[in-house]
Amino acid sequence: MVASAPAKINWTLDLLERRSDGYHELETVASSLDWGDELTFAPQPDSADVTITCNDTSVPTDERNLVHKAAMRLARRAGVREGAAITLNKRIPAGAGLGGGSSDAAATLRGLNVIWGLHWPTPQLLPLAATVGSDVPLLLVGGTAIARGRGEFVEPIPFAWAGWVTLAMPNIHVATPTVYAHVRPDDLRPSADGSRAFADRQATARWTALELLEHCRNGLEAPAFRGFGALADLHAELQRRFGRPWRLCGSGSTFFTAWDSAEEAAECVKEVRAVPGIRAEATRLETNCVEDSNYP
Ligand code: C5P
Repeated sequence: MVASAPAKINWTLDLLERRSDGYHELETVASSLDWGDELTFAPQPDSADVTITCNDTSVPTDERNLVHKAAMRLARRAGVREGAAITLNKRIPAGAGLGGGSSDAAATLRGLNVIWGLHWPTPQLLPLAATVGSDVPLLLVGGTAIARGRGEFVEPIPFAWAGWVTLAMPNIHVATPTVYAHVRPDDLRPSADGSRAFADRQATARWTALELLEHCRNGLEAPAFRGFGALADLHAELQRRFGRPWRLCGSGSTFFTAWDSAEEAAECVKEVRAVPGIRAEATRLETNCVEDSNYP
């Protein structure tokens, strides 16, 4: 069985409050993309081991990998005695803010749910997903959604913009806790009222890429720029060179911008790839995400 593990971008990300457990209460609008990792799953009926093979030798394949964590937790919670052999084909860089590890974990929950014959509906998988990481529930649901709390309360929305996105992925590994450690009180907002605009199917279907970008913001940009000066420099350079807004994906290090046509997005990719140390991709949003009639 093969499952895709799409990258995600955050159109908005508002930090609302620092909680006593150290996490931040937030509201984010995010979309899964038509680009990402791929996993294959094979049952191992004669062994309780979960083995991971990965094309990228820098990725740990032991319990440090969120795929392993997700698999072990699902096996324990569901009382599964058989194992699984998981092959992970990575494209999404780590420490890039694209939700790569979280999406791999979400795909693992979906894949093992099938090959272990569990038939758990998505709402049953969601609380387990949240224990693996704050972005895992969002990526389990897929498509475009608003996430609240520390990220675990996910509401799918009928966002209908159908343009193109360019990702600029610098060779900078950003650890999410480092960025959150740089959050100051003036990075917090009293409310996240801009998110609802993304839930209007008719309005978002008509948005141009520039109108979409005007609605985008990310409260983690200022803390990320304080922690990683090279990101602030790259951001200024991208905005100057392309004359349009670029936003940080999650806690970084990837930036994205939006385009109305495939041609413009491809031209931008070509230009970004000319800069040493930066990968670039053009992609649309994921269209055939998991539709689960059991999801409320
Ligand atoms: O939940 P996850 O392991 O993905 O979070 C990684 C780190 O990001 C947390 O340890 C915390 O420092 C920070 N975080 C946060 N508030 C959130 C999500 C993550 O402070 N809503």
